[in-house]
Amino acid sequence: MPFNTDDPNMLDDWLVAGPAAALAGTSDTAPRPVRLLGETLHLWRDASGKPQCRLGSQVLAVQSRHGYLWVCPGGKPARPLFDFPEYGEAGRRTVDCGGIGVAVSRLRVIENFLDMAHFPFVHGGILGQVPHTEVARYQVQVDPATREIWATDCRFWQPRASAAHGSGSEVIYKYRVMQPLTAMLYKSSSRDGALDAIGLFLQPLDDEHVIAHTLLACYDDTSTDAELIAFQQAIFGQDKPILENHAFKRMPLEGRAETPTRGDTSSVTYRRWLRERGMRFGVRPAA
Ligand SMILES: [Fe+2]
Repeated sequence: MPFNTDDPNMLDDWLVAGPAAALAGTSDTAPRPVRLLGETLHLWRDASGKPQCRLGSQVLAVQSRHGYLWVCPGGKPARPLFDFPEYGEAGRRTVDCGGIGVAVSRLRVIENFLDMAHFPFVHGGILGQVPHTEVARYQVQVDPATREIWATDCRFWQPRASAAHGSGSEVIYKYRVMQPLTAMLYKSSSRDGALDAIGLFLQPLDDEHVIAHTLLACYDDTSTDAELIAFQQAIFGQDKPILENHAFKRMPLEGRAETPTRGDTSSVTYRRWLRERGMRFGVRPAA
């Protein structure tokens, strides 16, 4: 077993291995090294433009989709990669906001992404503002067909919800968890009734390090790409030190280890969903 886990949740699924654009100029003799699950993979584009992936002499399954490269480390994907219908949809702008390294269990990054309660305290003046700290009740369901988690009817008052928003407004959110390490956020956009989509795709480098890739599929006719990227990176830059300061790098899945509070329905569902899948990678074993 070359990778540093035998968890089928990692080995038999598609894991992000960086942006597809990073393979420009590569070949089998000049591949791009990529870290995944404690190993260095080599990726390149062959003469026909198809991505290829190798670990030592072993060939691994790889595909290019949603602007990123996806590798199945174990070679036998248990399911197809999730759909992302907003990617490349007419009228939307697709902007890769880049990857940010975080020294933390990837599970915490997804859990934090799902959590609205931290907005006024961590992203004050942007995604939240004291005293607007109330997380209104919302719905969380697991889609029986795709096994994806959906949190809907999420509402939060935000002073500056996106690069395109100039003033405060109540913002509608929907969250979607597609895989243990990928999630999507849909929120009110500058276009009436339409929702921006923000994808968070985590590349697990090893047990306690991750690259968080953020992708926008948004409606915005005024901001430049640089402004959109700066906004997302500023938000993530506020989360990063808090994520890295957790006492436990690995996340416990038992409810008692860290007491859930109001507004934590998504987090409780995410932990239960991970438990039901038998998730071990990045999980702190029960005492
Ligand atoms: Fe945050």
